[in-house]
Amino acid sequence: MKILITGNTGYIGPVLVRHLRKALPDAELIGFDSGFFTHCLTAVQYMPEFDLNAQYWGDIRNFPDELLKGVDAVVHLCAVSNDPMGNRFESVTRDINFEASRNLALSAKKQGVKAFVFASSCSMYGYAEGGPRKESDPLNPLTAYARSKVAVEKELEKLGSTDFAVTSLRFSTACGMSRRLRLDLVLNDFVACAVAAGEITVLSDGTPWRPLIDVKDMSRAIDWGISRKPDMGGAFLAVNVGCSEWNYQVKDLAEAVAKSVPGTKVSINTNAQPDKRSYQVDFSQFAELAPDYQPQVTLQQSIEELREGLEQMGFADKNFRESQFMRLKMLDTHIAENVLNEQLFWKNRHHFNSIISSSNMISKPGQNGPGFEKSQESSGFFHNVIAGKTEDVWNDI
Ligand SMILES: NC(=O)c1ccc[n+]([C@@H]2O[C@H](COP(=O)([O-])OP(=O)(O)OC[C@H]3O[C@@H](n4cnc5c(N)ncnc54)[C@H](O)[C@@H]3O)[C@@H](O)[C@H]2O)c1
Repeated sequence: MKILITGNTGYIGPVLVRHLRKALPDAELIGFDSGFFTHCLTAVQYMPEFDLNAQYWGDIRNFPDELLKGVDAVVHLCAVSNDPMGNRFESVTRDINFEASRNLALSAKKQGVKAFVFASSCSMYGYAEGGPRKESDPLNPLTAYARSKVAVEKELEKLGSTDFAVTSLRFSTACGMSRRLRLDLVLNDFVACAVAAGEITVLSDGTPWRPLIDVKDMSRAIDWGISRKPDMGGAFLAVNVGCSEWNYQVKDLAEAVAKSVPGTKVSINTNAQPDKRSYQVDFSQFAELAPDYQPQVTLQQSIEELREGLEQMGFADKNFRESQFMRLKMLDTHIAENVLNEQLFWKNRHHFNSIISSSNMISKPGQNGPGFEKSQESSGFFHNVIAGKTEDVWNDI
């Protein structure tokens, strides 16, 4: 089986690739990414992309369709991936998250791909009172990011067919450790606060409801989406992914982290304006359709793995909300350094190359073996990590 994963060099991608490499050892795994966050690594010995058969670099808005040849399943992670970035880059968010996603799905169907798994989000429920939201409940997207996910789902619904199973996984908010960490996620932020400062500052009044899911359990759900046939849930399926016990109020998450990291104080901003994004989610459809792929990680385990991961990194940055582990901060840094433009296109491929090489992780010691062989070169602009080195096959940007 050949699987293309877009947006694989972000936060979820490295965890997913590790999971798929183990669960589907014979699968050919290829990645496609623009590399905005590729150098934002944690304590790792080698680039997570060495677990792939090939890595392509390029922009999804100029996706070279030939990469879909022979592909059985597409996992589409690539996106402007949260509300702050969506607010800052509103029209680009529409271009990348909506237009390019629809075009990718159309091309995938045309090229005979059998399964298309889309990383959607429960944030499309927005502010929802009156109990946990089911898939059939009205949507209330409050941000450009959430609206883009709703818009893609509408298009994908038209494309699902007996030979093209489309699964839109409406994920809860992610948490947990990854070889490319994000600290702009509620639980990850709290653990980083506890480790670096011994104090969790909750920016809201702590009352909003937020369903959470560990990145390992997201990977398990994606694995299910890849294998899902249209007769299990329909040619197009939108499904909430998570479990009901993981519907938490933000203040409860802060208390759980404080318990796990002894000596941590919790300060809640009681004067904060009410956070409009608050919802609980009903996961019964996912439990019914995917009994063997249900979340397994406990909240305690997620917190522990984050704490251990941060400690291994020697993490002590009290000012981490200004660091490279905040996605928006990273994009703004690229723009301030004049290597990325406001439309989120790299200005020059040499800039991109130097960012990738600055991670110092291109070569995996002693690794030149099977799985890293040169994949077919083709036209279009992309760049390939192969056999422990990068090969420059860019055309014009
Ligand atoms: N993290 C969460 O809480 C969460 C929850 C629900 C859904 N999701 C969805 O899961 C997916 C992955 O999330 P993540 O947390 O790994 O995000 P991320 O921001 O860490 O990774 C996204 C990746 O997409 C790439 N990308 C962005 N624009 C691109 C473009 N124009 N061309 C090529 N590549 C591009 C980036 O370089 C990055 O590597 C996203 O679609 C996100 O919306 C995430």
